[in-house]
This record gives sequence, structure tokens and C-alpha cells, in this order.
Amino acid sequence: MESIRKVLRDSGVKSEAIAGVGLSGQMHSSVFLDDGDRVIRPAILWNDGRTTPQCRWITERVGEENLRRWVANPALEGFTAPKVIWLRENEPENYRKVRTLFLAKDYIRFRLTGEKATEYSDAAGTILLDVRNRRWSEEMLEALELPKDIFPPLYESVDVCGRVTKEVGELTGLAPGTPVVGGGADNACGATGAGVVREGRVLSSVGTSGTVVAPSETVQVDPGMRAHTFCHSVPGMWYVMGVVLSAGGSLRWFRDVVGQLEVMAEELTGVDAYDLLTKEAERAEPGSEGLIFLPYITGERTPHRDADARGVLFGLSARHGRAHMVRAVLEGITFAMRDSLEIIRELGIRVEEIRATGGGAKSPFWRQLQADIYGAPVHTSTNTEGPAFGAALIAGVGAGLFSDLAEAADELVHIATAAEPDPERTKLYDEFYEVFRSLYPALRERFKETAELVRKFAGR
Ligand code: XUL
Repeated sequence: MESIRKVLRDSGVKSEAIAGVGLSGQMHSSVFLDDGDRVIRPAILWNDGRTTPQCRWITERVGEENLRRWVANPALEGFTAPKVIWLRENEPENYRKVRTLFLAKDYIRFRLTGEKATEYSDAAGTILLDVRNRRWSEEMLEALELPKDIFPPLYESVDVCGRVTKEVGELTGLAPGTPVVGGGADNACGATGAGVVREGRVLSSVGTSGTVVAPSETVQVDPGMRAHTFCHSVPGMWYVMGVVLSAGGSLRWFRDVVGQLEVMAEELTGVDAYDLLTKEAERAEPGSEGLIFLPYITGERTPHRDADARGVLFGLSARHGRAHMVRAVLEGITFAMRDSLEIIRELGIRVEEIRATGGGAKSPFWRQLQADIYGAPVHTSTNTEGPAFGAALIAGVGAGLFSDLAEAADELVHIATAAEPDPERTKLYDEFYEVFRSLYPALRERFKETAELVRKFAGR
């Protein structure tokens, strides 16, 4: 409430000028409410890995084939359903109290409007949504013995599903009655805000995690479910998304562990440590003279679905220095994102243009690296607000300012920079990418054995 009040005050925008409110938030988070609509316990978030046993249980009980048919996605630690099962098994007294299960942004809607609602793009990340038919999956709820009535009614992202209450109006300065739309998952809204609302455009977003999001007009499910298939914020569209768990996270790890010089320089001069590291990377040759980084420092989702996978600096020689290392880290993160792009291409979804956002979009060097490694043009847009901008476009459509999201994006999303792939470097990277790809299968069993060893000797 305070943030909304501050935004209105600082921007000088009058509440009458606000046509609608859009909402977006991190996916998969579980906010549990009791019969008095009170929060029962802290939400369990998307990046919480406690649910491996529950994922195994769901997979055994439902079977991979039914998961693919009913909800189009596998049971992964990050998703919501395993968290609900975790609560049932580990905190039964809390589980018994649950009357409503919200995703993070839907709780905000509830506070703004008093309405309990969700929309398809976020509901898809629970793995309890029949993604193909856009309805809660009776089959899945039954198989997992979960009560249907704790899940809010479903809407499209652009549907108005509540209005700002009088009380919230007083607290925030918003006009009571302002429509609040369904909104969307952060990845769906990130794509929308970058104009990724039609097939052919693909989002490459680097935050802590890295996501590659490709909209499609029909439901496309990877047979191996290496990438996720979720509903888009665009009514009647879906997207395939690959997730690299530590994209920006790997670079941050490198900065914190190896980049103390740059961090100190930032403190003294104010020049961003990441900019200094990227400059350093430019001094090494493309391919980092055979140094290859696997960015699996927190396990990996796409394409390996392996919580035990770990980071690797492969091919280290006495010739290599810091420049090679930081370049290899940037290349390795981008190779891992390309894994997702290859799945998207295999599914026959067109990849004509990449829209880059987040950390990977800031530096010209990384934008060019992405174009060269993806073998496709990489564009950035003038707005840098990410998912919040997408949520605003969705609100614009819901409030009737635009006829649909494609029109809103055409009018408000403009290209800021363009990087074309360099054919020579793309050829070179194609060859190094093949080496990158071959490393995980060669190491998979070693990762597993090592994880077991670590568990065995933990705390001794
Ligand atoms: C997507 C995912 C993350 C979160 C981050 O499946 O887990 O990208 O949405 O907020």
C-alpha cells in the first residue's frame, strides 16, 4: 500500500488518469490462507528446493505420461503442487487450516480488491492446471487428493477480476472502483512487456535465473518435458519456456569469488563491477581458447532436470587467465540458454528474432555474444521495467485502451538496440557449443555420486 502511495506521489500522476491496475509476480509461490483469510505460514518460493521427495511421489503416482497429458509439465521442485504436498506431509496442522491457496500476485489482488482470483499464466506453474484446456485439472487434483475449492477461479490475464476497494483507495490514493486485471506470471509479463506476443519473437531474459520464452499459437509440449509449457498472458496463446537456474546467478558468483578487484574498483570509482568484468572478457578470444563453463551451480532445470548437477570449468590450462574465465562464464551461461532455444526450434516454433531483457541486455558485448551463439538477431526495447511494463500493457487492454496485447505492444514497445549474428563467430560457437553439450551427459553419473558423497559426509 505504501509503495503505491509513494509511486503516485513521486510521479505526480493523478488517480483519475489510471485506467487500470495490472499485477505480476514471481511464479509458483504458495501463499496459504486459513478460514479467516489470514496467512498461515511464510510462502514457499519458486527457488526453494525442499520438495525432491514430493516430486518423486507425484511422478510415481501420476506417471510422466499423465503429467504430460493432464498438465503438460513434469513435477519439479520449484512448482507449486509439490509444495502443497510438502505442507501436508511436514506441517499437517497447517495443511488442515488451508482454505485458499494463492500465487504471490493473487494475494496482492485479494488485498486490493477483496476478490479471490487467478489467471492462466500463473496457474499453469502450479502443475494443477490443464494447460491445453485452460481449466483446473480434475484428474490431477484427484490423483494427488487435493481439494479443488482452495484454488481460486480462473480468468484470462486481460480480464477485469476486481476493483480497488474504498478502504484501499484511502490507503493508497488509487481511485476506488479502478479495475484490476488478471495480470500474469513474471515470465509471461516479461515477454509481453518486451513485445513477445506473437510466434517468431522469443524472449531471452537474464536475472538470477535465465529464461527463454517462445510464444506459440498451439500447445507445444516437449516429449521429454525438458522445457515448460505454460499459458501466455495473450488470450488463447501458450509459450514454451526453458529455465537456466543460475544465469545471472553464475556471474554474480564469479564476481563475488574471483572479482574482488572489480568490486573494490566499483567502491572507489562507482563503475559497475559487472561492466569491468565484461570489459575483461573482451580481452579473451571467442571460445575462450577452449575453456568451457557449465553454469549448473544450483543444479539445472532445462534441459537436464537435475538438482545434483554442478558447475564446471572444463579445459583449464596454464594459458588461461581471468579474462578467459569471465568470458567462459558469459559464454557458458549463453550456451545453456541456447539449449532451451534448441528445444524450441526442435518443436517447430519459429525463432526469427530474440528480444533480450535483464542483465544480458545491458552490455553491448553480451548482446552480441547472444546473437552469435543463438545465430539470430538480438534486439532490446526502450522500456526497461521488465514484467511490470507487461502488466501495465495487460491493464491497458483490460481497461479498453487497446483492442489486444499485439496492438498495445506495437504501439508502446520500441526497439532500442539491434545485434546481428556474425556468421564467422556463429560457426565457431556452433563447434564449441557441441563440446558444451557433450559435457553434461559425460558427467551426469559423477554429479550424482558426488552429491551422495556430500550428503554422506555433511557436517562431519
Ligand atoms: C519460472 C521460475 C522463475 C520465477 C522467478 O518457472 O521459476 O523464473 O518465475 O520469479
